[in-house]
Amino acid sequence: MSSSASSMETGRVTENKTVPGPILLLGAPGVGKGTQAKELVKIWGIPQISTGDLLRGNVSKGTELGKVAKEIMGRGELVPDSLVNEMVAARLQEPDTAKGYILDGFPRTLPQAGWLDGRLAQQPKTLPVVAVSIQVDYNQLLRRITGRRNCPVCQTIYNIYGKPPQKDGICDVEGAALVQRADDTEKVFEERMRAYEAMTTPVVEHYRALGRFAEVDGDRPISSIAAGIVAAVEQLRK
Ligand code: AP5
Ligand code: MG
Repeated sequence: MSSSASSMETGRVTENKTVPGPILLLGAPGVGKGTQAKELVKIWGIPQISTGDLLRGNVSKGTELGKVAKEIMGRGELVPDSLVNEMVAARLQEPDTAKGYILDGFPRTLPQAGWLDGRLAQQPKTLPVVAVSIQVDYNQLLRRITGRRNCPVCQTIYNIYGKPPQKDGICDVEGAALVQRADDTEKVFEERMRAYEAMTTPVVEHYRALGRFAEVDGDRPISSIAAGIVAAVEQLRK
């Protein structure tokens, strides 16, 4: 294998072109992690790994993990680290993660971050993670959460206030009836915010302290935020 092909495989910067490697998207509930991850998938061609989506998939399939996770997610609390780490480990075995991936909503606790850092340290050919935290104020988060609607078929994310579908309640892509997440109520949102502040703020500080970290303003048009994330990652990968 040529050195260029080898370095592409492991997510290194080649010929002045930034290959993303592992990217962490951090931020409060409703800040736009999923929306941005989908933009970055289009830009970089690497997969989005959303632990929330994976858990919801397990809930809808009725797996053992899904049965445990359903109640916890419904209360707005965090699913135990060991279960989430195991689920992420299985997803990272997939070959589409070779050039990088966007972790959306993981790690969310310091033990999850320690697990991920340890795993990556055993893969010296893989670039270190770069963490990007998206910032939006509380009132805007609440509006985004309560206004969110999702396509159950293609997972496109809409918002009745800011990004409505062309036809009320119907996905533009699939024509499917849009659904609201069970945890997208004001009461559960408040609990999710408490969990975020107690458990995930220290994760943000952990990656900030490591220096492979950027913060972006999430109160802008979706494409501007995506451009901001790409610029931040390119800067950090230089
Ligand atoms: P998860 O699904 O990850 O939920 P979350 O972190 O609360 O984040 P959301 O998915 O609600 O928001 P988002 O940031 O993705 O925003 P989105 O792009 O959709 O987790 C759910 C649960 O699973 C957790 O509570 C926990 O129980 C469990 N879990 C998951 N991961 C776990 C882990 N690692 N460990 C333990 N437990 C875990 O956007 C929101 C809305 O805003 C949309 O309507 C969108 O259209 C709109 N919007 C987005 N961007 C903009 C913009 N720029 N302008 C205007 N509107 C916008
Ligand atoms: Mg999400």
